[in-house]
Parts: sequence; structure tokens; C-alpha cells
Amino acid sequence: MKVPYNSNVALWKKELSRCQDLTILALESSCDDTASAVVKNGRIILSADADSQIMEHRKYGGVVPEVAARSHLRSIDDVVDRAMENAGVTFDDIDAIAVTCGPGLVGALLSGVSCAKALAFSRGIPLVGVHHIKGHIAASYLEREDWQPPFIALVVSGGHSHLALVRDYDDIEWLGRTRDDSAGEAFDKVARVLGLPYPGGPEIDRLAKQGDASAIRYPVASVKNAPLDMSFSGLKTAVIQSVENMALADGSISSNARFIEAASGHSRADIAASFQKAVVDALSSRALRAMDQTGVRKLAVVGGVASNSALRNRMEELSRRRHFDLCIPKPSLCTDNAAMIASAGYYAIRAGKLHDMTLNAAAVLDISH
Ligand code: KG4
Ligand code: ZN
Repeated sequence: MKVPYNSNVALWKKELSRCQDLTILALESSCDDTASAVVKNGRIILSADADSQIMEHRKYGGVVPEVAARSHLRSIDDVVDRAMENAGVTFDDIDAIAVTCGPGLVGALLSGVSCAKALAFSRGIPLVGVHHIKGHIAASYLEREDWQPPFIALVVSGGHSHLALVRDYDDIEWLGRTRDDSAGEAFDKVARVLGLPYPGGPEIDRLAKQGDASAIRYPVASVKNAPLDMSFSGLKTAVIQSVENMALADGSISSNARFIEAASGHSRADIAASFQKAVVDALSSRALRAMDQTGVRKLAVVGGVASNSALRNRMEELSRRRHFDLCIPKPSLCTDNAAMIASAGYYAIRAGKLHDMTLNAAAVLDISH
């Protein structure tokens, strides 16, 4: 008689805890990348594959959740097949399946979660749901084989700007977070008013290289009584107003006096560079403060915005000057990918976690998941 999947979970926990090596197949579909990877022992990438939806969303200027969900459904089987083939493994070699179950766009997440559950159920393979931010943090374990907790993580992506104390692989405490827009959101929105295509972060990064970062002093808000929290909404509005005022100087848009003096006469490249500097100032000063506050002298900078060249340069310079150990994964591990989910899944299993067929996608999810 076949044992029902859900009653195997307790048994599998015991079995997996005895396995020295674990090969994990991972799926990631929380936003606009359909990704799959096979990773050994949370550290060694055997394969990583993805279908990007950027061109589908670009015509709308941002991610359209319904378009994303449908696109994941079309891609996911192929992407998983490619990851398995490129790793040279079959399902008999897979010890567990890890899948991003939140936070993210719920329709998008459901594609990955449903596919992972179907594979786990039909093949009788243990399943673990992974928190997307834990995935971003785990990218540091793939970048450096000697990298391990405790460390401070600056997580900067399209959906999140968080500072965390990573006490252990599966023990993470928030130290600070954005009160409004995330850093990535600010990049994307500012890029849009500058007439740059989605996603705006890489476009601003490129344009800023031709600009003068000290041309305009944009304000960056501090949050009262919460020095590690961030707020990028005021900065974003200031940039948008200054762009409108440039257009005003051209005679094309109505008046707003506040930034006209500062902004008129500056190129788009100056605006991009000045905006980028303001974001980098805000992120780097808070990361330094988090290290001072906790006494932890190790910092990982992860998430899509960690691909930003100005942020990488600043953090590298600070790590030399202020003597802390810095890990910034290569850009392909910073933006959404499935290898980071496999790594986080590995450490979740090592911490005794597994999920049964009731695993569901969640738009909002506590980090303790
Ligand atoms: O981590 P990610 O791929 O997806 C989320 O979890 O949100 O991050 C995507 C974000 C987008 O806002 C994108 O504009 C930003 O990362 N990004 C960048 C750069 N590359 C990607 N922002 C600034 N500079 C970059 N080079
Ligand atoms: Zn992400």
C-alpha cells in the first residue's frame, strides 16, 4: 500500500538529517523570472537556468502580475527540464525540492509552488517552502564557500530594503526596513520619469556613469527614533519634481518652484548619478550603523540592487577603510535566481524544516517561515 505523502514528512526529516550530502532542485517564480537550479549541499551549483519576462513587461513600464503568472505557467516545465538536464541528474538523484512560497506576487508564486508540489507528490520527494528574502541572503553562501553566520545582511531588491542580523542560517532578525518604497522601486520609478525602460535599475546604473553625482543634492529622509529604517519615497518625489522642473524650463510642463533652481541646466545623466548617490549614501550609512550597533563586522549585500556598480564600489571602499569583511555576490546571484532558493532550502532542511502538501503561496510571509 502506498503511504500518503503527508505522513511521510516526519519520516523524511529523520532520513534527511542522516544524509551527509543533499542535492536539491529549486524553483523560483515570485516575480518576473521563472528560474530553476540544482545545488549540492547548499553551496555547489550544478546548474541554474531561467526565463526572463522583462521584454513582456517592458511595454507596460513595469511588472503586470497577471501577465507574470501566465508566463510562469508557460515556462516552468521547460526551465525545470533544462536545469535537470544541465546538471546531468535525474529525479532519483534529487533529495529534496525547494520552492519560493512567499513573499511575492501570489499568482506568480502559485506556478512554482504548484509545479514543485506536483513533482514532489508524484515522485515521492521531500518538499521545502522557502522565504524569498532568505533566498537572497543565501546567495552569499554560493558566492563564498567560507561565508557563514553571524553577519549583517543588507537586502536591497525590487520588493525589499531590509537590514538583518543573520544569527544563524535559519535564524534571522530584522534590524531595519523601508517605511515606504524599496530601493529597487525607487530606481524603477525614477527611471520611468527619465524615460528609461523597465527595469530601471540597470539603466540608471549605466546612465549615471556619464553624470556628475554631486550636481544635485537630493534629500534622503531619516526615520525618527528608528535610525536603521529607510524611506525612499521623499527622494523619489524630489527627483520626479526636479525632472518636471527641467521640462518646465523647456516650457512643456506647469510650475513647481522648489527644485527648479537645483535642477534646471542638469542633464538626465546628472540626475541619475545624483539620485543613485543619494540611495547609496542612505544604504551604506545604515549598514555601517548596523555593524556598529551589533558589533558584527561582516556584511553581505544582496538582492537585485546589489548589482549596482556605485553601491558595490562604495561598499568595497568602506570595507577596506573600516575593516569589515564584505560579501557581495556576483550580479547573476543578486537578481532573482533559483540557486539561492536551493541554498536557503538546504539550510532550512538542516534546521529541521520540511513541508507537506498543504504548502501554499503567500504574498506576505514572516521571515520565521
Ligand atoms: O532581487 P530582484 O531581482 O527582484 C526582487 O526580488 O524584487 O530585484 C529587482 C530590482 C529591480 O528594481 C531592478 O531595477 C533592480 O533590482 N536592479 C538594479 C540593478 N540591477 C537590478 N538596481 C540598481 N542598479 C542595478 N544595476
Ligand atoms: Zn528577489
